[in-house]
Amino acid sequence: MSTLRCLTRDDLPRLRQFWIEHWGGEDMITRGNIYRPEQLEGFVIEDGVEWIGLLTFFIKDDECEVTSLDSLREGQGIGSKLINKASEEARARNCKRLFLITTNDNLNALGFYQKRGFELVTIYRGAIHESRKIKPSIPLIGMNNIPLRDEIELEINL
Ligand SMILES: CC(C)(COP(=O)(O)OP(=O)(O)OC[C@H]1O[C@@H](n2cnc3c(N)ncnc32)[C@H](O)[C@@H]1OP(=O)(O)O)[C@@H](O)C(=O)NCCC(=O)NCCS
Repeated sequence: MSTLRCLTRDDLPRLRQFWIEHWGGEDMITRGNIYRPEQLEGFVIEDGVEWIGLLTFFIKDDECEVTSLDSLREGQGIGSKLINKASEEARARNCKRLFLITTNDNLNALGFYQKRGFELVTIYRGAIHESRKIKPSIPLIGMNNIPLRDEIELEINL
């Protein structure tokens, strides 16, 4: 039995650890912006004490950016539940669009988001090269054995 709840300040150490384990560092970089856990809001899905899904987001003006999304039990609806929840939250807070950055190697995420109504907006060619200067732990070769190069923005209008 899993439960979904909002992240709280007490979760910050665990969030940092989670990002270190899953994203190679405690900061997230998109389009040259550095996001630190303490700046973000989020939702977590727990099975007992275990985190099995995590989404963080950042609202600015009337836009909501999903800054991270992870499912640790894929194919069971966890990612969908989190993205639906973020969408609901962004709409309730009068955001006009929900957007996110993924990378050119992440074919699974590109499919996942497009099947859920997101559309491709922009390809930031070579952006990962710049991000790597800030966060050297970003690998040269990404998922699916694809060179990790570009940031791709996807959005859904709310
Ligand atoms: C992308 C990601 C978040 C998707 O999470 P997920 O929990 O697997 O997502 P879901 O289970 O909701 O959906 C995945 C598939 O499982 C299917 N599914 C969902 N519930 C299911 C169930 N109970 N039984 C069978 N299949 C199911 C969905 O239909 C979906 O298939 P579709 O995309 O063809 O429609 C996950 O793959 C992940 O964490 N990837 C690594 C990190 C990452 O890349 N994050 C995004 C960075 S921008």
